[in-house]
Amino acid sequence: MTARATASVATLAATIPEPLARPAGRLIAIASGKGGVGKTWLAITLSHALAQRGGSVLLVDGDLGLANVDVQIGLAVAHDLSGLLKGESAEALATAVPDAGFSVLAGRSGSGALAQLVPEQIETILAGLAAARRYDHVVLDIGAGLDRTARRLASVADTLLVVTTEEPTALTDAYACLKLAAIDRPGGDRRVVVNMAGTQATGERTWLTLRKAAENFLKLSPPLAGVIRRDVRVSEAIRRQVPFLTRHPASEAAADIGRLAASLAP
Ligand SMILES: Nc1ncnc2c1ncn2[C@@H]1O[C@H](COP(=O)(O)OP(=O)(O)OP(=O)(O)O)[C@@H](O)[C@H]1O
Ligand SMILES: [Mg+2]
Repeated sequence: MTARATASVATLAATIPEPLARPAGRLIAIASGKGGVGKTWLAITLSHALAQRGGSVLLVDGDLGLANVDVQIGLAVAHDLSGLLKGESAEALATAVPDAGFSVLAGRSGSGALAQLVPEQIETILAGLAAARRYDHVVLDIGAGLDRTARRLASVADTLLVVTTEEPTALTDAYACLKLAAIDRPGGDRRVVVNMAGTQATGERTWLTLRKAAENFLKLSPPLAGVIRRDVRVSEAIRRQVPFLTRHPASEAAADIGRLAASLAP
């Protein structure tokens, strides 16, 4: 490397603070605006990593129209979130993921009751989640889009993880997500996750781009929660319907998720 290149790398490193290591609130929601950025995979794998750190974790599939947490990990569920509308408890409706240490509250079990919820029903579901006190962490996977339901779910999060990839379309949607979240919950804890990053450094640069836009136009400075590298083994594990940390515990993406979990539950 030339002296000039070394200097520019050193300058860049100096501008990038360490990812925030501050305890997340109990309810961690994962949103993005754009579809297909890896929210569901991240929600599952983060839940698994938090459980491995010793916390009790409930993963809630909040993608109400197109729920698929159960499909990604091949989990057979008998109950879903709609049970909360009948007064059942989140604990009673949750399904334990074998050998993974966390439980899933599914978004569907074939009942079809969750596709068209009215706002009062969303509130009943949120009250049911708030009452699930026996879990240290409740991780909520929110569907793509920025509709009323997605915004309401994001607004109750103690910590909102806004997921982007390095693509400009994902960045603009993450920006919109941050903007709406700031309106819906002023002063809330919002952090950025860059998923499917080429390298740690390119992921950090993506976050800096997003942070700069948020600083200039929204007067917000969202910290980096973590960078998760692109890994072909993610799709392989999903195709096999096995939790990623079970199938590829020594992979780079698993190490990245481990660091993310450690930053949220130091
Ligand atoms: N770190 C990663 N490396 C490689 N591939 C990834 C990574 N994270 C996610 N993917 C791939 O991205 C695809 C989409 O993931 P996922 O379904 O979790 O996204 P999503 O944001 O929940 O989508 P939707 O908006 O439709 O709910 C998956 O098929 C998975 O293979
Ligand atoms: Mg999803």
